[in-house]
Amino acid sequence: MLQYSSTESSGFFEKIEGNYCVSASMAPGKLVSSLLIVFMVLVLIPRTYQLQSSQAWSLLRIQTLLNDPPVLSAWDINTDFCNADPTPYLTVVCYEESITQLRISGSGSSPPLPRSFSIHSFFTTLSRLPNLKVLSLTSLGIWGPVPAKISRLSALEIVNMSSNYLYGTIPQRISTLRNLQTLILDHNMFSGFIPDALGYLPLLALLSLKNNTLSGSLPSSFSVLKSLRVLVLSSNSLSGDLPDLSSLTNLQVLDVENNFLGPTFPRLSRKIAAIDLRKNRFGGGLPTNLSSYFLLEELDVSSNKFVGPFLPSLLSLPSIRYLNIARNRFTGMLFGNMTCNDDLHFVDLSMNLLSGDLPTCLISNSSNKMFMYASNCLKIKDHSQHPYSVCQTQALAVEILPHHQKGKSGGKVAVVSGVVIGVVGIFSLVGAAVFFALRRGSIRRATKKPPRRIVEHASNGYPSKLLADASIVSHSVCMFCNLFFI
Ligand SMILES: *[C@@H]1O[C@H](CO)[C@@H](O)[C@H](O)[C@H]1NC(C)=O
Repeated sequence: MLQYSSTESSGFFEKIEGNYCVSASMAPGKLVSSLLIVFMVLVLIPRTYQLQSSQAWSLLRIQTLLNDPPVLSAWDINTDFCNADPTPYLTVVCYEESITQLRISGSGSSPPLPRSFSIHSFFTTLSRLPNLKVLSLTSLGIWGPVPAKISRLSALEIVNMSSNYLYGTIPQRISTLRNLQTLILDHNMFSGFIPDALGYLPLLALLSLKNNTLSGSLPSSFSVLKSLRVLVLSSNSLSGDLPDLSSLTNLQVLDVENNFLGPTFPRLSRKIAAIDLRKNRFGGGLPTNLSSYFLLEELDVSSNKFVGPFLPSLLSLPSIRYLNIARNRFTGMLFGNMTCNDDLHFVDLSMNLLSGDLPTCLISNSSNKMFMYASNCLKIKDHSQHPYSVCQTQALAVEILPHHQKGKSGGKVAVVSGVVIGVVGIFSLVGAAVFFALRRGSIRRATKKPPRRIVEHASNGYPSKLLADASIVSHSVCMFCNLFFI
C-alpha cells in the first residue's frame, strides 16, 4: 500500500532527472527554458499527492482493522483521500500534508467487530495521525477499553465515538487532551466513576456520556468547568447530589435523566436554558429562585420525589416552552386566571396533589400544544381527578414529612402526625393512619443515601450478566465472545 505514493513520486523524479540530463547537452537558452518547465512542473505538482504516504497507509490500515465496513468500500491504494467529496457517513479533511478530520459512521446497529479486533492496534494506528482535530467513529462495532494512548492524539478538539461497544472506565489520561472541546461517548458500555480529571479540561464545552453504566457521583471538579455548555449524563447509574454548578455561567443544557441522583435540586447558573432531572431521586421542594431563570426554556422534573408547593411562576417564565412536573407530590391550588407564556407548548402536571381550577391559559384548541393534568384533585367534571380529600390528606402528610427529613426524631413525627390526624377529623382517621404508616416508611427509605454497592451494580438497560462479566473479564479476554456471539 505504501508503494502507491512512493512509486508515483519516484517515477516522477526519474522523469525530471531524465529531462535534466537531456537538457544539459542543449544550448544555454534551451537549458533555461527547460529548467523553467521543470520548475513549473515542480510548483504545479498535483495537490492530490500531498498526503503523507504514511497517513494514507494509516487510513488503509484503519479500513482493515474495522473489518472493511461498507462505508469504506471505496477506499483502496488509488484513493485520493484528501479530495474525495464528503458524505454524511464519511469525511476526510486534510490540511497541508496531514489529516485533520476523520469521520466514519457505520450503519445504525452494527454488531461488535470480530474477536480478532484489537483496540490497542486501532489506537496505535490512529496515533499515526497526530494532527487529527476531529475524530468521529460511530456505529462501527468498535469494542474494548479505550487505551491510555489516546493521549497521543494531542491535537484532538472533537471526539465522537458513540454507539460502539467501548467498556471499562473512561481513561484519566483523556484529560491530557488539552484542546478537547467536545467529547461524546453515548451508547457504549463504560462503567465505573466519571474521572475527576475531566473537570480540568480547560476548553471542554460539550460532554455527553448518555446511556452507559457509569456510577458514583459527578466529581466536584465539574464546578470549575467554566467553558461547559452542554452536560448530558442521562441513562447511567449515577447517584448523590450534583456538585455546585452555579458558577458555570456558560452551561445551557443539563440532562441527567434516568439516574439515581438527588435529593437536592442542583445549584445552577440563572442563565441555563434546559434542565432535565426526570426519573431520579430528587426530593424536597423546588428552589424558589427558579422563578428568576429568565432563559429557561425546558424544565423536566417528572418522576422524582419532589414535594411542596407548585410554583405558578414557572408557567410564565419569559422563555419557558416545555414544563413537566408529572409524577411527584407537588401541592397547592391552581386558579383559572393564572398567566402563561404564549410559547408554552407542552405542560404535564399529572399525578400530583394539585387542587383548584385549570388555568384557562393552558387550555387550547391548537394541535401543537399539549396539556396534561390527570390524577390530581382539580375541579373538572371528568373521571381523571381524585376527590379533593385525597390530595388534602396527602398534602398534609408531605408538608409534615419534610421536617422529618431534616433529622427530626421519629417520636416528634408521631406527635405531629397525631395533631394532623386530629385536624383531618374522624372521617379520615383510619385512612390517614394507614397512609402515614406507609408514607413514613417510604420517605425514610428514600432519604437514605442509596447503598453504593447496589447502585454500582444497578444496570441501565444492559443485562446483569453483561455487567457481571464486565467486572470479571480482564482486558485481554474478549467479553463479547460470551455476550454477543451466543
Ligand atoms: C455523534 O455521532 C452520532 C452518530 O453519528 C450523531 O448522531 C450525533 O449527532 C453526533 N454528535 C454530535 C454532537 O455531533
